[in-house]
Amino acid sequence: MSSKLRMTALGAALAVGLVGCGGGGAGSGGSDAADAAPEDLTIGVAMPTQTSERWIADGNNVKEQLEAAGYQVDLQYANDDIPTQSQQIDQMITEGADLLVVAAIDGTALSSQLQAAADANIPVISYDRLIRDTENVDFYVSFDNYKVGVAQGTALLTGLGVLNPDGSQGTATGPFNVELFAGSLDDNNAHFFWQGAMDTIQPHIDSGVLVVKSGQTDIEQAATLRWQQETAQKRMEDLLTSSYNDGSKVNGVLSPYDGLSRGIITALQNAGYGPTIDAQPNPMPIVTGQDAEIASVKLIADGVQSSTVFKDTRLLAEQAVTAATAYLEGNEPEANDTETYDNGVKVVPSYLLPVVTVYQDNIQAELIDTGYWTADEVAKGQSD
Ligand code: GAL
Repeated sequence: MSSKLRMTALGAALAVGLVGCGGGGAGSGGSDAADAAPEDLTIGVAMPTQTSERWIADGNNVKEQLEAAGYQVDLQYANDDIPTQSQQIDQMITEGADLLVVAAIDGTALSSQLQAAADANIPVISYDRLIRDTENVDFYVSFDNYKVGVAQGTALLTGLGVLNPDGSQGTATGPFNVELFAGSLDDNNAHFFWQGAMDTIQPHIDSGVLVVKSGQTDIEQAATLRWQQETAQKRMEDLLTSSYNDGSKVNGVLSPYDGLSRGIITALQNAGYGPTIDAQPNPMPIVTGQDAEIASVKLIADGVQSSTVFKDTRLLAEQAVTAATAYLEGNEPEANDTETYDNGVKVVPSYLLPVVTVYQDNIQAELIDTGYWTADEVAKGQSD
């Protein structure tokens, strides 16, 4: 038990007389939470941006599930602006939040806020993205981010026919020209996605089956600041100009996130590829993705994008709520990984969820039958 949690438990035991004093202000959180009724407790939920529909869904899911459990919720989005997120978290603390759920924009930028949270005995749950370089983060809920990368690398190889869908060796031997994209370097996840993907595809680069024609095989070269679609589009355009102006074709693109994939696909379409993976003579390359964003699911249904890695944000929200409830009731949440996520200061106990690769042929089973998207939304490429 961390000293903070010991204090939380101790506080819970001693706080009987304090509850009902009205709370508010730093110091009212965490320590007296265990004896309070849920409706007297406020949870601050800090999300990065509303420009990506996944974070909107995450925010809504967490808020709805916490409210259903009776808690008050202060949900804030920060427009991918670090000072805005810092200020929002500061405000949550001064307004007396009893617990924080934080999906950081920059995983290293929140140390002073989290020190203030620790000083006020406010438990902090890191949501999907690990908060780094501080001991003041109590728990991490996410997916198995290394496996996301493995899934993306595998989907690239499968789409090209190097592997069969069951993972066995396929008949295609290439050589295939591929280009590699990574996420935002200030997001811890970007490194896990990249590592998992590169561990999967590197042997095929070494054997000559895959050729990265641009030579850009370092994460720094492949990175996309703030996961911006436009930045990925621009880099793909630059790659086409610099490395494919000799008539050679791109056959595959490793992309770690659907928003980037859409930018990459736009650049390829503008250069005459596609419209679909089957189109002749210039087929759309095999493009991977992540998040099963609705616009991209439609692209997969239409045979334009090859795959996405589906992470069910409803389940992630559920884990965040389970962990939050545990803390607020004076308990410790259950971790299923206590080794992988070293944030630079300590290993943060984590609960990791599994992921599923979605291709055209399992959209129905994984996304529609599970109620994540309706068939109508997939057909329109828009959520209702
Ligand atoms: C990551 C997250 C991905 C994707 C990306 C861009 O942190 O794990 O699922 O959403 O951010 O938003």
